[in-house]
Amino acid sequence: MLGLETSCDETAASVVRLTPDGVATVLSSVVHSQIDDHAAYGGVVPEIAARSHVEMIDGVTRRAMEQAGIGYDALDGVAATAGPGLVGGVMVGLSFGKAVALARDLPLIAVNHLEGHAVSARLGAPVQYPFLLLLVSGGHCQLLEVRGVGDMTRLGTTIDDAAGEAFDKIAKALGLGYPGGPALEKLAESGDGSRFDLPRALLGRKDCDFSFSGLKTAASRLAVACETDQQRADLADAVQSAIARQLSERSDRALKDYAERHDAALKQPRPAGEAIGQERLFVVAGGVAANKTIRSTLEAVAAKNGFAFLAPPMAYCTDNAAMIALAGAERLQKGMTSDIDAAARPRWPL
Ligand code: KG4
Ligand code: ZN
Repeated sequence: MLGLETSCDETAASVVRLTPDGVATVLSSVVHSQIDDHAAYGGVVPEIAARSHVEMIDGVTRRAMEQAGIGYDALDGVAATAGPGLVGGVMVGLSFGKAVALARDLPLIAVNHLEGHAVSARLGAPVQYPFLLLLVSGGHCQLLEVRGVGDMTRLGTTIDDAAGEAFDKIAKALGLGYPGGPALEKLAESGDGSRFDLPRALLGRKDCDFSFSGLKTAASRLAVACETDQQRADLADAVQSAIARQLSERSDRALKDYAERHDAALKQPRPAGEAIGQERLFVVAGGVAANKTIRSTLEAVAAKNGFAFLAPPMAYCTDNAAMIALAGAERLQKGMTSDIDAAARPRWPL
């Protein structure tokens, strides 16, 4: 499966092989990051992103095919991100995918970017469905029960900003570059956040939703008032801890709910040979999963609830096309292909 990803600021193409019994191998994964194009503006500029995708998609795809060492006649299909994302960029990858599909007489699979992130853990390890997923990126923050492509239940989502958005905006207020998450993590290493009392969101609520806008506003105000580098480092540490705490509190609730429902299922008689407890797996994916403090906090929550914990390799946490190719290949195995007039969708909830 050839996969194409152009929904934000990465132009990416990849070839993935999926065996009939569900084992994935990445034959190539090429990612061209536009970070340098957007750095001067402190964030992604949609128009610049779309133009850059137009310039890069041809060469990036060519390199992915060369590195995979196969010709177009060896492909079974073309998968392209059809949303959600910056629609100008999505249209570039989707149109390119349609052109390849038409020219080579291949099925087209329009993939939801979030579904790509959801299956990404299967690129680095033989992960089986189902599992509980925390998807934390620049644009999304969701808890999902993942049973397979086209078969997911959302347990919670952010009611305002995504965690990565909070990282990026607070980092900007602290005078750090774009993208802010990695820079803020580095600054936090030399800080002690205990003297800051940042707002805690949705404390009384019994659901698995998130909210980061209060934290974003409060911390951005404090950042502007910081006078020394030490104060800035202390604030960075406080912000990172506050985000980690909210992610782990909400995940804890989702893990308990998930375990309860699956424990009920486990009490039913099972076919011989089926592994019991296999569904106790907690996966974290998306760019924010790169943060070491957040990873270790979530790992502890998983252990406390009796779940195995897994985060995809870094290259598959941030945006890439291998996850789109894999989601496309799994869809093709289920016979779920798309019409050639599939639309680019700026919004597309799972
Ligand atoms: O998944 P991703 O590459 O793109 C989206 O689909 O949004 O995620 C990018 C986000 C950005 O907000 C970035 O600041 C954040 O992930 N991020 C981090 C770290 N690395 C990337 N946030 C905190 N700590 C990090 N080390
Ligand atoms: Zn993404």
